[in-house]
Amino acid sequence: MLLDRNAAVKIKNQKLKNSGIVSIDVNLKSQRKQKIIIGANLINQIEINIKAKKYDKVIIFSDSIIKKLHNDYLNEVVEVTGAIGIINIKAAPHIKDFAFLKRIIDKLISYRLNRGSAIIAIGGGTLIDLVGFVASLYMRGIDFIAIPTTLMAQGDTVIGKVGVNYEKFKHLLGSFYSPTLTFSDSYFLKSLNEQEKFNGLVEVWKHAILTRDEHLLNYFSEENFYKLKKNTGVLQNIIASSIVIKKKFVERDIFDINGKHAALSLGHTFANYLEQGGNIRHGEAILVGTIFCTFLSNRAKKLTDKKASLIFNMSRKFLKILKYNNKLIFKKVKSEEVVIESLKFDKINTVEGSYNFVVPANNGYTQLKKVSREEIKDCLILLKAFMKDNYLR
Ligand SMILES: NC(=O)c1ccc[n+]([C@@H]2O[C@H](COP(=O)([O-])OP(=O)(O)OC[C@H]3O[C@@H](n4cnc5c(N)ncnc54)[C@H](O)[C@@H]3O)[C@@H](O)[C@H]2O)c1
Repeated sequence: MLLDRNAAVKIKNQKLKNSGIVSIDVNLKSQRKQKIIIGANLINQIEINIKAKKYDKVIIFSDSIIKKLHNDYLNEVVEVTGAIGIINIKAAPHIKDFAFLKRIIDKLISYRLNRGSAIIAIGGGTLIDLVGFVASLYMRGIDFIAIPTTLMAQGDTVIGKVGVNYEKFKHLLGSFYSPTLTFSDSYFLKSLNEQEKFNGLVEVWKHAILTRDEHLLNYFSEENFYKLKKNTGVLQNIIASSIVIKKKFVERDIFDINGKHAALSLGHTFANYLEQGGNIRHGEAILVGTIFCTFLSNRAKKLTDKKASLIFNMSRKFLKILKYNNKLIFKKVKSEEVVIESLKFDKINTVEGSYNFVVPANNGYTQLKKVSREEIKDCLILLKAFMKDNYLR
């Protein structure tokens, strides 16, 4: 667990009676403070807020697509931040492999970054997770600043956790760490294609399911759903609502201890398995994971048929737009035994051999503990039938 350098550390010596053991309580009041600015054309905000930090050095890691599509913006960021280096990386699942970390760390060393420096990450969730994780490790943690450029990253990635994959295990390595500053500029959303927008909207929808937030759910209604891709202003509002919800969950449970933070992993346990190998997009995997958990919850009588069908109907709309990777998903879920064995080793399980899942429930969400292999198997069969019914050619 990461200690914040500004955290109030309260040390209390308690001599345990006659044992000679000294017990020390370390009371971490807060993590590194975080400011998130959401809006359009934020260069001015970037300049003011970063200059105010008086960093010794700043370097930038950018998704190479941003150089290609938004080179002027990138140049402006370099200019207003006085960045001494810019490293372009093509975002692909493999950059979140453990082996790739060394390349980033070597860059930080070559620029002699110190604890007074900051790293800026400009890109989607893939690059932000990678750079954020390195920032959390380098010299025990230096500031990192996120300029998220996908809807996924703007609406979800930038609070709470960063991590990378180890071999086939998704996010096996990570830290509870957030960017000090985040600038979510809706300018970037204009170059995202429809699939990438809806890929990100799956996580926003997840926040709406968890909280049953009427305002947010309304954006996903029959009337509004298909309009979402068109209006950047509306997307900006949705992103802000999504971040406010995520912030509330994370603030109540920064280090993932009391179940609030874990709630955000609705759909993720199953998604972590689907994403192994890196060919299925995150939003797509969460969607399938949410369908699976809806079956689990309905079977466990935590979700009425009526409420489950609302989630299934919305899932169908997403599936249609995402043009999901049918073949790969079918291949992955073909053998129930393989899936069940793989799900065993997920971060959410705290007892060897037992299965936990966050699932949608009548009043928002709940955590099902000790789900049996039989229950998982039944729901996998239901999931497969659902996917087949909604198969797109
Ligand atoms: N740490 C967290 O809490 C958290 C939360 C959600 C997702 N994630 C992680 O984020 C990753 C997925 O993020 P993502 O969906 O942003 O994917 P991504 O970063 O891989 O980006 C998707 C694609 O969009 C391109 N792209 C980026 N910005 C663009 C722009 N403005 N215009 C056009 N194309 C652009 C990228 O080059 C890439 O090809 C996953 O690895 C997931 O695990 C982490």
